[in-house]
Amino acid sequence: MIVLGIETSCDETASAIVSSEREILSESIYSQIKTHEEYLGVVPELAARSHIDHCDKVIKDTIEKANISIKDIDAIAATAGPGLLGGLLVGLTTAKSISLALKKPFVAINHLDGHALTPRLSYELDFPYLLLLISGGHTMFLSVKAPGNYIVLGQSIDDAMGEAFDKTGRLLGLGYPGGPEIEKLAVNGDAQRFKFPRPLYGRSNCDFSFSGLKTAVRQTAEKLPSLNKSDKADIAASFQFTVCKIIEERLVKAINVFSKYHPNAKNMAIAGGVASNSIIRETLNNIAIDNNFSLYIPPPKLCTDNGAMIAWAGVEHRLIGRETNYSFDVKARWPLGDNCYEI
Ligand code: KG4
Ligand code: ZN
Repeated sequence: MIVLGIETSCDETASAIVSSEREILSESIYSQIKTHEEYLGVVPELAARSHIDHCDKVIKDTIEKANISIKDIDAIAATAGPGLLGGLLVGLTTAKSISLALKKPFVAINHLDGHALTPRLSYELDFPYLLLLISGGHTMFLSVKAPGNYIVLGQSIDDAMGEAFDKTGRLLGLGYPGGPEIEKLAVNGDAQRFKFPRPLYGRSNCDFSFSGLKTAVRQTAEKLPSLNKSDKADIAASFQFTVCKIIEERLVKAINVFSKYHPNAKNMAIAGGVASNSIIRETLNNIAIDNNFSLYIPPPKLCTDNGAMIAWAGVEHRLIGRETNYSFDVKARWPLGDNCYEI
């Protein structure tokens, strides 16, 4: 089976063609980072206009590079939410149109579903698995039981992890998005110089909270006489170290909760943009080993938003016979588990 996937929920116009053999036949991405850089965050109106300008070119490029005829495509998948409505409308409408023209099934994909299934595109990973989904908008522990079938074990009660990276980056005057910039800066910083709080430390559940950490970072920066290069590197390193410590403590709780649902399951995976951070990847690897779990980490370019994750989610849903009605609309908010496959 060959599926064309389209992703336009935020600031990347991306598409890919993926086969049920786990092969990415081709992929194409147009990043809007330059458009939003000067505003230090995504401007929804500019994002929507940019998706309009680039969506058709990105898809055309993907089809040409795959070296297939458009008629070989078996289904078309597109992100329908959660995300920015303007961009979602561009991708979803384009997908419906291609589906109608080719007379091939259309599948609306929840963006989180795309992230959550991505480890199965990279590895032979059986359900159920424990997933830490860490992106710019979401931070959650999930039990992934089947495509579209999840148990939310815990989640952030305030900011998402990626948001905490981006806000810290902004505070330090770094470029957008902050996550990769903080990782780079932290390499030369002293991770022990500042002791930042670990919100919810010791709680028995596996929720996250980052707002207290964000405030502490701001107050620390404001107290320094001048924020020089080495102060910035030390804040970045101390912040990243604290995030790893938070993950370490919360993940052990999540493993306990997951094991109550699935006593014999021993696989865990990570997904979402923050999962491309090498220090976080290393932290998770150590915890997995200590707890006798196997850890599956997709390559960094499949962690940040991309078209292949949506095409692959399309493959997974089509393999169990799912299809979405053309009347299905975009959703700015779309909790995992809300169905879209009634036809
Ligand atoms: O999954 P994603 O590409 O988009 C959303 O669905 O939100 O995640 C974007 C987030 C941003 O907050 C970005 O700063 C963060 O992922 N990110 C990172 C790294 N690369 C991207 N955070 C920490 N370290 C990184 N290397
Ligand atoms: Zn994402």
